[in-house]
Formats: sequence, structure tokens, C-alpha cells
Amino acid sequence: MKKRVFSGIQPTGDLHIGNYLGAIQHWVKIQHEYDCIYCVVDLHAITIPQDPKTLKAKIREVAGLLIASGIDPQIASVFVQSHVHEHSELTWILNCYIPMGWMRRMTQFKEKSQKQREEVSTALFDYPALMAADILLYNTDEVPVGEDQKQHVELARDVAQRFNSIYGETFTVPRAVIAKTGARIMGLDDPTQKMSKSEEQPGRAINLLDSPDDIRNKIMRATTDSLREMRFDESRPGINNLLVIYEQFTRQAREEIEARFEGKGYVDLKRELAEVVVESLSPVQSRYRELTADPQHIDILLAEGAKKVRPTAEKTLALVKERVGLG
Ligand code: TYM
Repeated sequence: MKKRVFSGIQPTGDLHIGNYLGAIQHWVKIQHEYDCIYCVVDLHAITIPQDPKTLKAKIREVAGLLIASGIDPQIASVFVQSHVHEHSELTWILNCYIPMGWMRRMTQFKEKSQKQREEVSTALFDYPALMAADILLYNTDEVPVGEDQKQHVELARDVAQRFNSIYGETFTVPRAVIAKTGARIMGLDDPTQKMSKSEEQPGRAINLLDSPDDIRNKIMRATTDSLREMRFDESRPGINNLLVIYEQFTRQAREEIEARFEGKGYVDLKRELAEVVVESLSPVQSRYRELTADPQHIDILLAEGAKKVRPTAEKTLALVKERVGLG
């Protein structure tokens, strides 16, 4: 039996190379070895205000980009969270077993809620419970994510263990799988901030659908330091981030990369990196255009994906209800 992998991605903003390097490239790599389920988490998206038309389009765009990046929907399952209503139902039940104290420790909520203050939705606070439901519905062994999701996966582990200790073996206890490098790609404009889907800072992220010129401009303008030495060094976040992106796309060894740029200037690194990124994203972009030429194609694939995963979700939820004594 293959081990089960589950991971998710939000259909908000534009997918960027942080998502790609921290998550999607790993999802592609492991799909033959594991039994993989990848979910476009639209219910998570609405924890902050969304325009309905844009959201619907983004769901298809994200699914299309996952497939264009190399996820084969015949091998892995790709589906939309709200198509399988068990996610919402299990969230409610899990809520009853998650102490407020655990949730209050979630750092992402603290960051995200700062902007909205009192307007922040109850659901944004509850976001990790929905994420736990996503993971636990499918007897997930491993959750490949970027570093920022580690704490959420740990909460899913904790609630699985808690539930199992009260009711007996019910959930598989999942674990986060985080790559040693590339799990936290930083913003190009500000390398002290994580690369994120931010519309306010257009120079922050390289989006998977950016044009070659946009990619070049963003990289050429990336913030670095005034030193000259080209070394992987976390205490120099700007240059380190560019080198990590280069390493991730070229798969060269660090010594090789450092030797290649020794004695050269930052502009040389930036120029070469820009071409590497343009060339790496070009096949993804052309596959995306092919895939989306027929707008119904993605919808059909997503309906098939939901159909494949639904029986597992139904079975887990039925067991949970039985254990709790519902109905
Ligand atoms: P989301 O949509 O913010 O991001 C999707 C994936 O991309 C990773 N990522 C990054 N990796 C490296 N560097 C970055 N700058 C960077 N930015 C994002 C994220 O860590 C993530 O792996 N809550 C999740 C979605 C989710 C989920 C789940 C994940 C919902 N249910 C169940 C795993 C399992 C999120 O908002 O990801």
C-alpha cells in the first residue's frame, strides 16, 4: 500500500514561485511514489473577503497551474474543497475537540488578523481546524508544505491524537514534510518578508504566469546588500534568497553556484537568474495555455477528482460520527 499524501493551496491572488518551490514542485515529484491528493481550498479562501467572480476564476486557474506544473490528474487526485462537503462537517466536529488555547497560539492568524482587527472573521481564527479536517478526512500520512504551514499541520496532529485518545484509533496521525531548502522563499522587494500573494507589493513575488519582461524587471530590482561576496548566508537575506531560487531551479550544488559567481557582481547573478526563471516557467505557461483553451476541460477534471476522493471522506466522517455518538 502506498502512503497517503494530502496538501492544499488557496485560490487567492496569483500563484508565485514560493508556492512552486516550497510546495508544488515536491507534489509533482512524489506523485508516482505516494497516493497523492491535492486540494484547491476555496473554503479557506473565503475566510477573507473575496469577489465571487474572481474567486470562481481563480479556482480554475490554480487547478490549471497545478496540472500545467506537472501534476497528472490521472495519477494524483486534484479537486476543489467545497465539492466535498465532508470537509465542512468534520471541521465542526473537530472544533469541539480543539481548545481555544491551541488556536490562540497560531502565528499566521496573529499576522493575518492584524490588518483587519475587529472586522476579522471567526472563520479566519478557525482556519486551522478546517485545515485539520482536510488532512484527517483522508487518512493522510504526510503533508508536504512550505515552512509557514508547519504549525497548522502540528495542530492537525494534536487534534488527531486527542480524538484517538478519547475514542480509540480513528485518525491516522499526519506529519508535515518540509524540504531542507526552498521551504521559505522570501519577497524580492523585501527579503525579510516571506514571498506572498500580495497585491499591494507588486515587486514582492514572481508569479507563475508573469511575462518574461515582468520576471526580468522584478529580479533586476530585487533588494540585495552592499557587500560583494556571493555566498549562501542566511544573515544576508537578499542575496541568500536569490541564490536559493537559483539553486532550486537549476538543481546545482551550492559550491558549484558559489564558484560560478565568484568575483562577479550582483547584476550578473540577477541577469542569469532571470533567464533561468523565465526558461523554467515557460513550459508551465505554455501547458497552462493549452489546458485552458477549452474552459470546460478543467471543470471535468475537477469533477472527476472530487468523485475519486469522496468515498474516503464519506467513510471517515461516518466513522467519526459513529465514535462521537451523533445521529
Ligand atoms: P497557501 O495557499 O498559502 O500556500 C500553498 C503552499 O505554498 C507554500 N508557500 C511557500 N513555500 C515557500 N516559500 C514561500 N514564500 C511560500 N508561500 C507559500 C505553503 O507553505 C503551502 O504549502 N493553509 C494552506 C492551504 C491548505 C493546506 C491544507 C495545506 C489548506 N488545507 C491541508 C496542507 C494541508 C495555505 O494557505 O497555503
